[in-house]
Order: sequence, then C-alpha cells, then structure tokens
Amino acid sequence: MMIYSSPKKILVIGATGQLGRLCLKVFSGEKYQTLGTGFSRLSSGLTPLDLSQEGEAAAVVSRVRPDIAIICGAMTDVEGCESSREKAFQINSKSPADIAREMKKIPGGKLVFLSTDYVFDGTCGPYDENSLTHPLNVYGESKLKGEKAVLEASESNLVVRTTTVYSFQAGGNNFTMQLLKRLSQKEKMLVAADQWATPTYAQDLALALENLIKVDACGIIHAAGSDFISRLDFAREAARILKLDPSLIQGLPTSQLKQKAKRPLKAGLKTDRLQKAVGYLMRGIKEGLRDFAENLGKSPVK
Ligand SMILES: NC(=O)c1ccc[n+]([C@@H]2O[C@H](COP(=O)([O-])OP(=O)(O)OC[C@H]3O[C@@H](n4cnc5c(N)ncnc54)[C@H](OP(=O)(O)O)[C@@H]3O)[C@@H](O)[C@H]2O)c1
Repeated sequence: MMIYSSPKKILVIGATGQLGRLCLKVFSGEKYQTLGTGFSRLSSGLTPLDLSQEGEAAAVVSRVRPDIAIICGAMTDVEGCESSREKAFQINSKSPADIAREMKKIPGGKLVFLSTDYVFDGTCGPYDENSLTHPLNVYGESKLKGEKAVLEASESNLVVRTTTVYSFQAGGNNFTMQLLKRLSQKEKMLVAADQWATPTYAQDLALALENLIKVDACGIIHAAGSDFISRLDFAREAARILKLDPSLIQGLPTSQLKQKAKRPLKAGLKTDRLQKAVGYLMRGIKEGLRDFAENLGKSPVK
C-alpha cells in the first residue's frame, strides 16, 4: 500500500459532470488539495479545459502538477461520437494519452481513467477485467484506445470501468434524470428491453475511487453496482421507488430505437476485483434509488 503524505494534490478533469462533481466532494477535507476543470459548465474556482483542443490538457497538467489526476471528462454522447469520430478520439483517447505522458514526469504521479463496459460487445456480460474487449461503436473504441494509452504510460495508473451511472443531479441528463423529467410531465418514455447492465450509483462510484486510490490499485478494475438488470426493469424499479407512473414506460427492442451507434446488449461488469481491493460490494439499485429519492426530496427537479 502506498502511504501518501498529506495533503495530496488531486486534479479532477471534468469536475462539472455527474461523477466529477461528486469527486470534488469526496476528495475534500484536509487530506486533499483538490482542483477541478470544467468545459461548457465552467463555474468559479474551476480551471477551463477543452479536451478536444490538442495540447490543452497537457498544459493544464504540467502547470498544476497533481499527485493524482482523475479523468472523469469525456465525450459521453454515444450517438454524437458516431457522427464526430475524430473529436471523440481526441477527447477520449488522445488527450488522455497526453495527460498520461505529463503525469509520468511527476514523481509518484498516478493517473485514474474512467472507462466503460462499452469496450465489450455485449454477447456474454457481465464481464470481468480479463474478458476480451470488442467495442461495437466509436464511443467504446475511443475509450478502449484511451485505456491502452493510460496503462502503457505507467504501471501505477488505474483504469476504472463503470456502467449506467445514475444519480440525482439537478439539471443533469443521466438516464434516471431523463426518466424523472419525462414521467413527472406525464410523457411516455421508450426504453430498451434487451440492454442489460449493472447500474452504478454515482456517489458509490466516487467513494470507490477514493478507496481504490487509498490502496493504490493499479491496472484495470471494474466498479459497478451489484444488480445485473435490463434497462427496462431498472426504469420500472426507478418509477416505483420515485413514485412515478410505470405505465408511461414502454419497452422496445434496441433494433427499434433508431439509434446510430450499435449497443452492447448483455453488457455489465463483474466486480470481484473491486471487492478484493476495497473490501465491499457497491450497492444495488434498490438502495441507490432510495438514496436518489431522498436527494430528490431535498431539491426541485429542473
Ligand atoms: N454516465 C454513464 O452511464 C457512464 C457509463 C460508463 C462510463 N462512464 C464514464 O464515466 C466518466 C464520467 O461520466 P459522467 O456520467 O460523469 O459524464 P457526464 O456527466 O457526461 O460529464 C462529462 C464531463 O466531461 C466534460 N467534457 C465534455 N466534453 C469536454 C471537452 N471537450 N473538454 C473538457 N471536458 C469535457 C464535461 O464538462 P462540461 O459539463 O463542463 O461541459 C463533464 O464534466 C466518463 O469518462 C464516462 O465515459 C459513464
């Protein structure tokens, strides 16, 4: 186990997103000196960074010189990646590779890169860390290339693959927030009935990142929730717990959803390695959604 002197300087790249903003909370307090970057939702206190601009990410890292950089920022719009291939590779692979090169120059520097179960083809999920990768779409391809660059740069770097991340985030657009907004307005929502994953509560993921960093985990680790479930059943359970009308949810096969990017159908992640590293399993959907409902009670939907 690596013992860090305190405070550790942490750079959260993409601190305005669903996971990044929770990382800013988790990596707070006297043990950490934490900085974040933002792009379109830049707010005061954050450093501007556009990962689509060659050289920007490396310049920020060489100026900040963090002990640990966590790349939460990504082009996460799976459909958008399909139509803007070059931009997807710049943001999801080339900039992470540049960051990895800069982090290597910092003694003891460690880079944590968030990746996805979309590196797999979805024929036999849930997948473990040794499963063969075979992405079906540009998003998955670009994240896999990013993973490789980060792992090749240093053996102390860590790739954390996750999937179907959800949380209550006012103004956010994750799957459960879309469901909440639509069903609250009595609008119908079409949901894939044949896409399976292991939905991951964002708060749990941010905490898992902290614990993985504490034990100095390296290589690839899958961090995801403990239930393997279809998107349709997840949506129905969310509607039940959030007291919304489940009859507004209509299940369809992926083939009828008119999506540009191919989706892995049986995806999801096995988390035995995570359990060994941190000593626990991440929560399942019932507990995550109940926590979501509590946060919803404290904040209006935007
Ligand atoms: N959400 C999921 O279901 C899921 C599943 C598997 C893996 N992951 C991975 O987990 C990580 C975190 O996901 P998330 O749900 O937190 O994503 P998110 O909410 O979509 O946030 C994306 C972040 O990336 C930043 N970003 C986008 N384009 C950028 C650019 N050109 N330059 C700099 N920053 C840019 C955004 O900044 P602004 O908001 O300021 O524009 C935001 O901070 C990502 O690496 C994603 O690939 C997510």
